[in-house]
Amino acid sequence: MLILDGKIAAESVKNVLQQEVQQLLVQGKRAPHLAAVLVGNNGASETYVASKVKQCAEIGFESTLIRLDATASEGELLDTIRQLNDDDNIDGILVQLPLPKQISEQKVIEAINPTKDVDGFHPVSVGKLVQGLDTFIPATPYGIMLMLEHFNITTKGKHAVVIGRSNIVGRPMSVLLSSNLPYGNCTVTLCHSQTPDLAAVCREADIIVAALGRAEFVKADMVKEGAVVIDVGITRVDDPTAKKGYRIKGDVAYAEVAPKTQAITPVPGGVGLMTIAGLLKNTLAAYKRRTG
Ligand code: GUN
Repeated sequence: MLILDGKIAAESVKNVLQQEVQQLLVQGKRAPHLAAVLVGNNGASETYVASKVKQCAEIGFESTLIRLDATASEGELLDTIRQLNDDDNIDGILVQLPLPKQISEQKVIEAINPTKDVDGFHPVSVGKLVQGLDTFIPATPYGIMLMLEHFNITTKGKHAVVIGRSNIVGRPMSVLLSSNLPYGNCTVTLCHSQTPDLAAVCREADIIVAALGRAEFVKADMVKEGAVVIDVGITRVDDPTAKKGYRIKGDVAYAEVAPKTQAITPVPGGVGLMTIAGLLKNTLAAYKRRTG
């Protein structure tokens, strides 16, 4: 059984990015610049955004963090996005989700200039992804593709079962795995809350991507011997004995599932570490497209 270590794969992607940035600077060019917008102070969002900003610095990207109050209006956020759209020094814009309930996420996503949409959530980006055109791939599915590539996991002709149809992970993941890409070419089944006998569908899978957001949902009896299991879950489960008072659990019951698999991602230390690598790759791609 191979543990798909996100730290190793992410470091490898980031090393290449760092070298590319150094080349740009040697040529007298400016560094790629990511703008992150955080509204309010959701604990998980704070952690993710801080990590995005830190990792930009590690590889030599510029970043700007814009914070708005939890009570900010939709208009304020849309104004902020317009300013970032118009700023020639900003290559990528991300608005951390979820947003407070007075703000429409859809309106916000659609306000971002698609040429700066490094999260890949804009309908233009999604449409291009579905059509197999060059675009920004949402960070988590992108990170998973980079992980498959790093560990050279064969996907061609395999049956992939994706659990969860979210716009952020499950749906774009199903598109990527079914597409004619080096780590695509799977036959894909996209499962969700209305799928009857999900366990039976999972048992048919050569590759399982669990992205439903329910701690330890995938049990050993749902997994075929020798399957590849990708765990996207990051649920905080209360645990008074843990340092922070909670523990992070994946969507897969790792201890019982891992021994049956060909390869599996741990949680933490798996997919989570790859997502920012995907975001950083998108930011460099945005920079290159914009600066020609
Ligand atoms: N919230 C959860 N995942 C993501 C992501 O990939 N991007 C943004 N902007 N917000 C998120």
